[in-house]
Amino acid sequence: MAQEKENIRLQKYIADCGVTSRRRAETMISDGRVGLNGDIVTRQGIKVDPKVDQITIDGKRLSLDPGLAKKTLLLYKPIGYVTTMDDPQSRPLVKDLYSGLKERIFPIGRLDINTSGLLLCTNDGELANLLMHPRYKFEKEYHITVAGSFAKGDLAALRRGVELEDGPARPLKAEIKHSHSRQSVLLMVIREGRNRQVRRMMMALGFSVVALRRTRLAFLTLDGVKKGSWRWLQTAEIERLRQMMEVGNLKKR
Ligand code: URA
Repeated sequence: MAQEKENIRLQKYIADCGVTSRRRAETMISDGRVGLNGDIVTRQGIKVDPKVDQITIDGKRLSLDPGLAKKTLLLYKPIGYVTTMDDPQSRPLVKDLYSGLKERIFPIGRLDINTSGLLLCTNDGELANLLMHPRYKFEKEYHITVAGSFAKGDLAALRRGVELEDGPARPLKAEIKHSHSRQSVLLMVIREGRNRQVRRMMMALGFSVVALRRTRLAFLTLDGVKKGSWRWLQTAEIERLRQMMEVGNLKKR
């Protein structure tokens, strides 16, 4: 019996291989950079079977090895892990939490050793560069536990913004979840990702951070991911992140 053809749109296949976003793959096709079985294709919507069709970009064959495909995962980092790929002090590395994968996946940006929460990790250098670029200011939501009572006046001061040594910092959103004499919990959303920014903002108001957890990055949350575990990002989620970067003319120059 003849094997059924596994048809997939050419631009989707190119994006799934981690080469670029689906939208940019369409441009590559229109620009005549994509070859199909030896011929350049410029028409959109062509379906291909990656098992039998030979697809090239700028003359270079696209890899069919899914192990080489670009992949991104969403990890719930526990405290006590460092986000570097090596550590001279031999502390636990976040990459140990997803060991055993074929791909060389690295964390995008950093979370302090004492911060827990959402961390994206990838083997897609282009995506990592884009996500870390200061131009693309994705919202980051934090749950912050501080020592002592955080009063309404403190919240007003935080909302007005604080002066840090590397410039002013103002949250997009800040609210008090609980305030008690011993500890208070706040929710804060910022767009920047300056070094130890949340801790420094709290310190500027005279508060020390007891616990810090990142709970959201753009539309991505920790829902369904247990502390210390991870899940792959879906192609649609990566595409949505890329689209957010394209909206409002945020394109890479
Ligand atoms: N802000 C901090 O102070 N630490 C982090 O890990 C992340 C944001």
